Amino acid sequence: MELKRPLGIIDSGIGGLSVVNAVRALLPAEDIIYVADPLHFPYGEKTKKELMEIVKPIIGYLSQDKMVKLIVTACGTLSSVCLPDLAQLTSVPVMGIVWPACQEAAQVTKKGKIGVLATRATVRTGAFHRILQDIDSSLEVIEEAWPEFILAIEKGEFNSPEWRAQVQGGLLSLKQRGVDTLIMGCTHFSLISWFFQGLGGEDLQVVDPAWVCAQKLKEKLHSGREMKSSSGGKFYLLVRGDCSSFQKSLENLSFSLEGEINCFSADISVNIGV
Ligand code: DGL
Repeated sequence: MELKRPLGIIDSGIGGLSVVNAVRALLPAEDIIYVADPLHFPYGEKTKKELMEIVKPIIGYLSQDKMVKLIVTACGTLSSVCLPDLAQLTSVPVMGIVWPACQEAAQVTKKGKIGVLATRATVRTGAFHRILQDIDSSLEVIEEAWPEFILAIEKGEFNSPEWRAQVQGGLLSLKQRGVDTLIMGCTHFSLISWFFQGLGGEDLQVVDPAWVCAQKLKEKLHSGREMKSSSGGKFYLLVRGDCSSFQKSLENLSFSLEGEINCFSADISVNIGV
């Protein structure tokens, strides 16, 4: 049986496009609806209660008449703060990025010391730390929140000499504390994992949850016989908030998009409900 419905992928902004990239590479036949929510960016500065209120209408929208076959919270914050609660809101399966990233990092590390860069909300939950230690209790984990750099990425301003120096310093300090593996615990970082790998050097292994998550998704769809077998998956981008500034961020990142672009206003999404 082939399930023709698209995949729903959500994030506050451009970060989740890292997962879109990986899914399009590994599952090129799948149709994707990506919901970006710049109106409520940054998710990483919100409480769980606020996030639930903000994201509930998006889950409701994607779940209407089972519009999508699966939802990926392509956002470290949603995945660590409220994944089980979001999953309760819908009969569509919901998948996050934290577990796949932790599994990969636990396999990759040689010294058993893993760094996680994420939002403040993610670091507060300690989710990466907990899951990594569930996988292997001997693992040591250092979690750091870099909210200002997330903002710079969203604005497309991350590659300035000042930011390069600051990031290089931050990575050096992690390496000096013994970290040999670094999880991109926020998908904004995944989107530029090449930047971190370049500045971190060969003695720092960067783990990008986007690719691991897409691989897990492929296995899941395959085992559930839910994979599309035709080719040429379509891509739909729904922006909740200011479409033009979102498109500007994409241009700044040289992220090319094929497919239809729709903007939906905050009012519409609020009225959708669950
Ligand atoms: N992409 C989101 C994440 O992975 C973070 C950005 C935000 O704070 O909204 O956590």
